[in-house]
This record gives sequence, structure tokens and C-alpha cells, in this order.
Amino acid sequence: MTERPDLEFTAAQMHAMVDAVAGRCIDHIVNLPPQPILGDVGAEDFCRRMREDAPEQGSPLEPLLDQLFRDYVPRSFTTPGPGYLAYIPGGGVFPAALADFIADATNRYTGIWQAAPALVQLEANALDWLRDWMGFPPTSRGLFTTGGSMATFNAILCARERHLGPDLRPGVLYTSDQAHHSVLKAAKLAGIMPDRVRAIPCDDAYRLPVAGLGDAIARDRAAGLVPFCVVSTAGTTNTGAVDPLAAIADLTASEGLWHHVDGAYGAFFQLCDDTKPILRGLSRADSLTLDPHKGMFLPYGTGALLVRDGAALRAAHEATAGYLPAMPHPEEFYDPSQHGPDLSRGFPGLRVWLTVKMYGAAVFRAAVAEKRALALEAFRRVAALPGIVIDAPPDLSLFAFHVTWPGATLSDEDVATRALMDRTTRRGRIMVSGAAARGRYLGRVCVLNFRTHTAEIDALLEDMGAALADIREESAAGLESQGESREAAR
Ligand SMILES: Cc1ncc(COP(=O)(O)O)c(C=O)c1O
Repeated sequence: MTERPDLEFTAAQMHAMVDAVAGRCIDHIVNLPPQPILGDVGAEDFCRRMREDAPEQGSPLEPLLDQLFRDYVPRSFTTPGPGYLAYIPGGGVFPAALADFIADATNRYTGIWQAAPALVQLEANALDWLRDWMGFPPTSRGLFTTGGSMATFNAILCARERHLGPDLRPGVLYTSDQAHHSVLKAAKLAGIMPDRVRAIPCDDAYRLPVAGLGDAIARDRAAGLVPFCVVSTAGTTNTGAVDPLAAIADLTASEGLWHHVDGAYGAFFQLCDDTKPILRGLSRADSLTLDPHKGMFLPYGTGALLVRDGAALRAAHEATAGYLPAMPHPEEFYDPSQHGPDLSRGFPGLRVWLTVKMYGAAVFRAAVAEKRALALEAFRRVAALPGIVIDAPPDLSLFAFHVTWPGATLSDEDVATRALMDRTTRRGRIMVSGAAARGRYLGRVCVLNFRTHTAEIDALLEDMGAALADIREESAAGLESQGESREAAR
């Protein structure tokens, strides 16, 4: 007789395992502040030693959890920690982890409406909330994706289908040289090759210049090409710049082009009275990338797309098969697989739904406003440090700067600015990162982790101030010794 393997656990075993996992996770979260902000990520040899064949026999959970929490989790950037001011933070709110657990444990099929209509309606509600917050009309439809990159990919598909039909090659897409690299990647995935993507050089404020955009469109039309889409950015990754969204919306309307806004970093600042005017024009876009795993503080793995004309999103993805049930009211009810490339998938909407239901929208508005206020405070104090030159003040909650001193060359400044980011981070409490933009290396601070509060801004200033003092002393000594060696050579 063949063996009858039993993959089920008893109720008692499941309770014990859930308690063990919950205990580890909660310990991890409550102990985030003292954890080093940058784990030991120089781990090549360690990773080589980790390679192993699939085990023939299973192991108990506890030793696996020991390994995970002792050896693997700490070898990473502490992205959920309050001192994480690098790249674009988010944090990872707890209700979303609960939602993932529920979604995985109940394992219902939410790819098609008929298989779980009430659960799919929760996802549709969550998308409608995003739509309302962003000021998009009721005709809009949306899609939860794994992140901003996939949202932008689906937006470019819609634009392509709407404007180019089957003949893709003449189509040209416009963006700025400060756009996230996912735009180029998304265009390529959608069949728009890099030689048909125009990265217009940004202006002095790192924004997409409307005049330059108009000129590029005119040049391409004159050359017989087919301009079809502009991707602007509501908060660039390098400097946090918000492109002139309203002026770009005017231009795309008059040129008959699709306007996609990449709001992966900045769109949730639309929730706050202070920052909404900065994003003027965002709600006129044809489509919008959102990243709830940034501005809504969800764990990684949740992006979202809104498309103003929901029919365009449906047209890009509609497909069926003889084995699938027919959708009874496609106009009224949302069907995820008819609005995106996935059929089988997880249940991303539950994370957003449960999180918003548990906190309420007011908490998000307050948290986003707090991040903005903290960024302004950090900006004022960093700008006052000796030898700091601000390159980009915060449009939203990110600002960029470099280090200088009398006699410093651009290359000296780049080295010193990079050292400032590295040394601040190596002090262990605050992680910051830099970026190359417009020919120089910029330091940057981005406040968007929900756990970041005033104490972390104080720590940033202490650690960056101390690192800067060391660098300035060393630079001055370096210049002095260069002067001495020049003297000696005479
Ligand atoms: C402005 C911007 N757009 C797009 C992305 C890509 O988003 P994701 O990493 O969620 O795919 C990022 C990521 O940081 C971003 O900052």
C-alpha cells in the first residue's frame, strides 16, 4: 500500500506554532529601536555557506525560528526601525502582517470575482478608498500590484493600447532624467524600447521642464514618430522633487497624450492639507502609481495603480477561457483578473483593507503630516550645519544636500558627502543614503517611516553633526598637507 502523507497539523500544534511565531515577531518589533540600523550585510561568505540541498526530512519549527531571527533577519538594513531615513522608508504596520496571515491561512481564491465575491469586494473597497483620497473620479478602476514598478508597467500598457494599437515601434514615451529607473524598465516590458524613451534633462530644481518636454514632443512628431505617453513624478527618489503636474496635464491634454504620474513616493501627501497644493494636477492624471508600502507604511509587497478611465485598464487585461464562469455584472463588480495580468495570486487587498479599517483614515493623514513636519525640522537643522549646501529643499519629506569647504573641488565634495552618509550610518542609530544627480553626489534624508519621531531627528543631527565635524577636520588637514607638499616641492 502507498504511504498516505498527512500535511495537516493538529489544532494544538497550530496554536503552539502561531504562539511561537507571534512571540518572535513581537519581540523583534518591540526591540527595533536598539537594533543596529545597518546589520552585517557584507555577508558573501556567509551566503555561500548557506547553500544547501532540499532536506529529505523535515525539522521542527523552533530551531528554524532560532536560525531566522538570530542569523538571517539581522543581516539586513533595519528597514522597519525608527532610524531608517534612507532610500524611501515605510516601516511595515502590524495589521498588514495579520492580514497576510489570515489571507494565507484561509487561502481563498480572489483572482476571479465569482470564487470569493465578498472578499473581492473588500479589495474593491480598498481601491475605491485610494481613488477617493487621490481625487480620481468614480469612472476609475485600480489594481493592487507587488509594488510601484509593476503599477507603472500596467499604466504604460494602458497608454500603449489606447494610443498605439499593434504598431509599437513609432511610439515615444517621455519622462525626466530624474524619473525612477522602473519607468525605463516598465516601458521595455511593455514593448517600448529604450531608444523610444526620452529622459528630458531636469531643471535646476530637479523637475521635468515643460518647455523641454514640449520641444521633444515637437521634434519627434516632425521626425514621423508617435508621442503617446508622459510619465511625470510626484516626488523623485533622488531629491523628492515634484514635477509641475498641472502644467504637464495641460500639455498632455493639448497634445492628446496619456499622462501617467509616478506617485510611488509622494502620492500619499495628497492626504494632507499642507502638501496637497504641491501635488496640484495629480488628480487630473490618466493614471497614477501608488506605493502603499511607502506612504501608507505597509510592509513591502503592496503597490497600486489607479486608471482614470477604468475601461482602459479593463481593455488592456480582459481575457477569459471556456473553463471559467462568466462574470454576471462586469460593470458593477470588480474582477481582479480582468484588470491586471495575474490570475491566481495572493490577496493583496486584505492588507490595505484591514489596515485602514483598524486605524481609520484620520491616523494616516496625521502620520503623513507628522513625517512632513519632521522632515522640515530636519531640513532646517541640517541646513544650519557648517559646510552643508542644500541642493533640494523638501517639496514633501525628502531633501538633498552636499558638503563643501573653501577650496574644495567637486570631486572633494563628492567624496566628503559620500563619507558623511556612510559615517552617519555607521554610528548605528540612523541610516541615510545618497544619490548621484546632475553631475554630483548628493546626501539625502527621507522621513517616511511611521516609527520615526522627534528623537530620531535629534539623533540624526547629533550623528551627522559629529561625522561632519570629523570630515571637515580631516579635509582641512588634507588641504593643509597638500599645501605643505606643494611648498616642499617648490
Ligand atoms: C519614485 C519611485 N518610483 C517607483 C519606485 C519603484 O517602486 P517599487 O520598488 O515599489 O517597485 C520607487 C522605489 O523606491 C520610487 O521611489
